[in-house]
Amino acid sequence: MGLGSNPNGRVEQMKIFLDTADLAEIRRASEAGLIDGITTNPSLMAQVAGKEDPRGIFLAICEAVNGPVSAEVVALDAKGMVKEGKKLAAIHENIVVKVPLTEEGLRACRSLRGDGIRVNVTLCFSAVQAMLAAKAGATYISPFVGRLDDVGQSGMELVEEIRSVYDEYGVETEILAASLRHPRHVLEAMLIGADCATLPPKVLYQLLKHPLTDKGLEQFMADWKSLGKEL
Ligand code: E4P
Repeated sequence: MGLGSNPNGRVEQMKIFLDTADLAEIRRASEAGLIDGITTNPSLMAQVAGKEDPRGIFLAICEAVNGPVSAEVVALDAKGMVKEGKKLAAIHENIVVKVPLTEEGLRACRSLRGDGIRVNVTLCFSAVQAMLAAKAGATYISPFVGRLDDVGQSGMELVEEIRSVYDEYGVETEILAASLRHPRHVLEAMLIGADCATLPPKVLYQLLKHPLTDKGLEQFMADWKSLGKEL
């Protein structure tokens, strides 16, 4: 399906989220106007937190970005997830609570949504899982593309399947293509009509680059210099 033939008649562009808890990276991308939000996970938080209070880091991230910031719970039972989720949501209005795609996670999702808290259901590896997350009221579903590719399956096929199922049943849960490893993944997510994509900083800056852009700019600069004039 091409971008122009989207049956939902979506007019918005795909949202780009940065998949990191690194504040310097977040500020750089946000100030450049390149991103619409942030996703984090416990592994990404562990890379940056050190002795700092994770809640302080989430607050700083929310203040640096004008958009949703996914913050993941670490409890494994629904009650614990809801308790953590409420604490996270109280940090800042940008927070979206992230829960894993387990029975307990979906119970927590339903409960948090009942309290008006946005939820990102993560670690999705099948379209039927995605359907269950939608039934639980998920705001976002995060299919992990790269991790499926890593085990010899097609991650993008999963994004495509979820798009078809959600469109078929008019599901409003947004598809957040995650675990993207290279610009081709981003392009494919756009062509399928994913609502959002989250990418690590390295992939974000790869999107900007093309060797012919660098070569062309170099040539323009050299020609201008040979003129010996100022603008
Ligand atoms: C998504 O929200 C996850 O944080 C992330 O995209 C996982 O990516 P990885 O498979 O590269 O760790």
